[in-house]
Amino acid sequence: MPFDHLLPGDHDAASYGIRIADDYDAIYDGLFDTEGAVARLAELAGDGPITELGVGTGRVAIPLSERGFEVHGIDGSAGMLELLAAKPGGDRIHLKCCDFADVRLAEDCSLVFLLVNTIYALANQEAQIHCFSNIASQLAPGGRFVVEAWVPDPPRAGEQRVRPRRLAAGLTGLVIEEHDPVAQTLATTQVVLADGAKVKTFPVVHRYAWPSELDLMARLAGLSLEHRWSDWQRRPFDTRSSDHVSVWRKE
Ligand SMILES: C[S@@+](CC[C@H](N)C(=O)[O-])C[C@H]1O[C@@H](n2cnc3c(N)ncnc32)[C@H](O)[C@@H]1O
Repeated sequence: MPFDHLLPGDHDAASYGIRIADDYDAIYDGLFDTEGAVARLAELAGDGPITELGVGTGRVAIPLSERGFEVHGIDGSAGMLELLAAKPGGDRIHLKCCDFADVRLAEDCSLVFLLVNTIYALANQEAQIHCFSNIASQLAPGGRFVVEAWVPDPPRAGEQRVRPRRLAAGLTGLVIEEHDPVAQTLATTQVVLADGAKVKTFPVVHRYAWPSELDLMARLAGLSLEHRWSDWQRRPFDTRSSDHVSVWRKE
């Protein structure tokens, strides 16, 4: 089938990177509050090594390591990790190419974090529960697990929705979404339009969870909610929040 590579992907740990690694930094340049994320994570880090699951091209991991932290980065995409390793300071990050779903962490990790909705890359509730319990069981006492994700706002079941998505300057983004409320998945086609008629599309499937469901997963894993903000500037999380930064702590 000629368009196989454009069909909605599965939740394979490598699939996102295969489709996007070479363009990731250019597409999302300047969109995230990287400075805010680095500042907050540095405050939450504690004394041990810290680990980013789905480290990508090192947007946050490299500046954290520049602040003196021992940073470990896990990613299922060899392409993403090659780009990270080639950046200045990339050689100081301890990298592992594997599925983060049941990763073995470095000893005594005091902070583990999952940014920009990457928790939703895990295929179903069971996999997400397992991720929480795997991390919690290895965190040092007092250690923290931080997740940044959007608050679900899905279209009606069975309908397709097209919405604009802000991308780096000079690019236009569209997202075509299809919602399965039973599986809590949003199967999306991400469309990137650039001047000169260049078009890139790639599928992303998210298994979303409400903050309350994530809290329950954390609780099952023995973690309790310490903070929930609507962004990295610690703005309060309320009914208008479209995103959340959640911090759970191991007793
Ligand atoms: C949206 S990107 C975020 C990259 C980086 N954390 C950032 O904030 O810029 C998600 C990353 O998670 C990786 N990823 C997705 N699912 C994964 C899995 N199950 N195991 C390991 N890595 C995964 C992808 O390869 C990609 O690099």
